[in-house]
Amino acid sequence: MSRKYYSEDEVESLYSDAKAYLVQRWEPRPGYKPLILTGGEGVHFWDAKGKKYLDLISQLYNVHIGLNNRDVIEAAKRQLDEMAYASPSYFNVPQIQLARRLAQITPGDLCKTFFGNSGTEANEVAIKLAQLYKGASKIVSFWDAYHGSTYAMVSVGGSSRNRQSPGLSIMEEFKHVPSPYCYRCPFKKTYPDCDLMCADFVKYTIEKEGAKSVAAFMAEPICSWAGQVIPPDGYWQKVRKICDDTGVIMIFDEVMTAFARTGKMFACEHWNVVPDIETYAKGITSGYVPLGATVVNKKIADHFDEKGFPHSYTYSGHALACATSLAVIDFYYKEKLADRAAKMGDYMMDELRGMQERLPIIGDIRGLGLFMGIELVANPETKEEVVPKGLTPEQKKDPECNPMLYLADKAKENGLIVSSSPGTGIIRMMPYLIITREQVDEGLKLLEKTIGEMAEKFDLPKKG
Ligand SMILES: Cc1ncc(COP(=O)(O)O)c(C=O)c1O
Repeated sequence: MSRKYYSEDEVESLYSDAKAYLVQRWEPRPGYKPLILTGGEGVHFWDAKGKKYLDLISQLYNVHIGLNNRDVIEAAKRQLDEMAYASPSYFNVPQIQLARRLAQITPGDLCKTFFGNSGTEANEVAIKLAQLYKGASKIVSFWDAYHGSTYAMVSVGGSSRNRQSPGLSIMEEFKHVPSPYCYRCPFKKTYPDCDLMCADFVKYTIEKEGAKSVAAFMAEPICSWAGQVIPPDGYWQKVRKICDDTGVIMIFDEVMTAFARTGKMFACEHWNVVPDIETYAKGITSGYVPLGATVVNKKIADHFDEKGFPHSYTYSGHALACATSLAVIDFYYKEKLADRAAKMGDYMMDELRGMQERLPIIGDIRGLGLFMGIELVANPETKEEVVPKGLTPEQKKDPECNPMLYLADKAKENGLIVSSSPGTGIIRMMPYLIITREQVDEGLKLLEKTIGEMAEKFDLPKKG
């Protein structure tokens, strides 16, 4: 594969064009220059200047099979040669084959698929299906969750950062409950003595809203945005029963957790809980081309077989995307990537426990398979948050004031990519599932160095 490097002048000119012609995403930092990527191989990528990085978040937590996988690229090329695209008013062969494959590998009686282009669209379809099926509009979901960026998904996602932008329409009939975030339990309880009060609160909310008016409860089985929240045993089983008892459809957003990421093909398998609707994107094609999928159980499928579903996209069931996904799924099974993620995740967790003993700024570590999180704290006894309260909006964007931004910049300087949330103390790590033990060791060594540099700079953890 040919690497493409650019001269300093060329890179500066690309940055100035990016500034002139691209709408800035999220909250732009003054003067910040995102890397310009030009290539990658396996778990590494390089930027336009030729600097190489070890990436522990697999781009945007989606390239499970690694960069530049030839099996998948060749399969995509073959489909392009044969037939890149067909109108959704027709069927195409890869679309039918992929729907069949998903019915075979997804848990329980999930059996029929609607294809879109992204996780956001898959979730949008899921809530629309639930609302039409039930004839009710309300959705209950977690505070601090992220399910996508459209109006409906910003409303379902309970992230205050996304919801509190002045002028943005929010669907106020969508309601929120706390996630099972045991490290900072909002009910100030401890598991198992809590008797899963957070699950009871789901029931309480549904009943207060009126079960007949609630179409669905929607959540990630492991809520990433809220802080890589691994629910305690019994939580999902209890919520499943609540949904059954109240007649509310259970939707799992497995955009991030599916396709071997957590050490099982689908994260819901950890708790033997099957939702009524499940959504996928990211790992379904490992990022080689865009694709989203919403899979429904028989009861819901039968309903829409009769009534029809008033929804479609020009690119629903895109032949290139579906053929690529089939090759990616083959690769998961051929390389046993779910087992590999489980084993490598155990190894990484052990290593992180060692790091926690050496670095008291690490308040908590949590993970399942290669879905890992570290929570940094200013004080391990009080769990005081590492991002100081009371920073002005400008200070929040300034790495000299916000330790998590400083950490993200330092990591890059050290040739490491992790996701360091600027508003909380969470570091997310979701490496490519093909990562080797040596690469994990190298990544964690760089991470320890980086956290140490940040702790020294901000004189953390606080004493006493
Ligand atoms: C859990 C979850 N749901 C939905 C989405 C939205 O997916 P997309 O960006 O493909 O629209 C994301 C994206 O990060 C996600 O993490």
